[in-house]
Amino acid sequence: MGASISPPAGACLVTGCAGFVGGHLTEALLALGAEVVGVDNLSSGRRENMEGFLNHPKFHFLKRDILETDWLDEARRTLPYFRCVFHLAAVVSVAYSMNHETETLETNYKASIELYNQTVNDGARSFVFAGSAAEYGDEACLPIKEEYADNRTIQLSPYGRSKYLASRHIIEAGVGCSLRCFNIYGPRQDPSSPYSGVISRFLLQAARQESLTILGAGDQTRDFIYVSDVVRAYLLAAGLGPAADKPLVGAFNVGSGGRLSIQELASAVNKITGNPAGMTHLPPRPGDVLHSLADVSKLERATGFKTQTTLETGLKETWRAQGSPGE
Ligand code: UD1
Repeated sequence: MGASISPPAGACLVTGCAGFVGGHLTEALLALGAEVVGVDNLSSGRRENMEGFLNHPKFHFLKRDILETDWLDEARRTLPYFRCVFHLAAVVSVAYSMNHETETLETNYKASIELYNQTVNDGARSFVFAGSAAEYGDEACLPIKEEYADNRTIQLSPYGRSKYLASRHIIEAGVGCSLRCFNIYGPRQDPSSPYSGVISRFLLQAARQESLTILGAGDQTRDFIYVSDVVRAYLLAAGLGPAADKPLVGAFNVGSGGRLSIQELASAVNKITGNPAGMTHLPPRPGDVLHSLADVSKLERATGFKTQTTLETGLKETWRAQGSPGE
């Protein structure tokens, strides 16, 4: 996407700028000529994710926690008005949220709606919230449509619940949007935790020439989407797409609209990486949903969005960037 055909991004606020998606998004905004205040407490975000732009003249980094009361004042002292707000800072681990419900709700819900209310009140032109597929709980009816998450939905974790509550506030307020991303993967996704995204874990195992650990039979399916496609969806959602459309209002799924079994994924990873170690089946993860697939027609209708990166290309790009430990 060239800067010449997109509208000026102006002043942007990105919370969670050192996260996996936040880092890629910040990079894209700076490439569009935006001036960006990035906020991150570096609890799950990593400084390495900001390496490409930390010294950019139009980037201002605040190492702050969004639960602190005065962080937004400091951001406003840096740039007085934010045209676009991208809110990705969150408790991001579903597993962690299970034992930290209050902290998860305070961060992902309460702090989110405070930021929303204040910046929309300040006149922000767009507010894009990082919602989640976890808002749908264990939804059996596929593909999953946005309206399936409602007050009767039982989310499987405080993480999913907190994201739903914040999305609902934004939908009801009628300004800005929540992007419910499905399984995102790509360069710089942290593979180090057992709860990291399966693609980052498989690529790390392949780099070490270990067998890929399939949890359960491997017939569970997911809708994988490459991070640069997700970034494009964020820009479109803020009205920063090439067609200079209006910012989106409401909730929108962000996925590929296709699904792949974990067994098929493991085969693809071993093929692309030349990993000779094969696969091992371990017991399934408790609470794992069997199938997940986004209905992406709402975003497509609103913005013309279509993914551009195939799984094969995305895996190759991620492998190239992540590489083997010896590289
Ligand atoms: C994803 C999100 C999570 C969200 C959930 C529901 C990520 C990292 N997590 O979880 O935040 O709550 O969707 O929307 O995107 N697997 C293996 N081997 C491994 C690791 C995982 O076989 O080493 C399997 C898992 O059991 C699962 C599948 O791969 O069936 C995908 O796992 P994961 O990448 O963790 O994502 P979700 O479980 O879909």
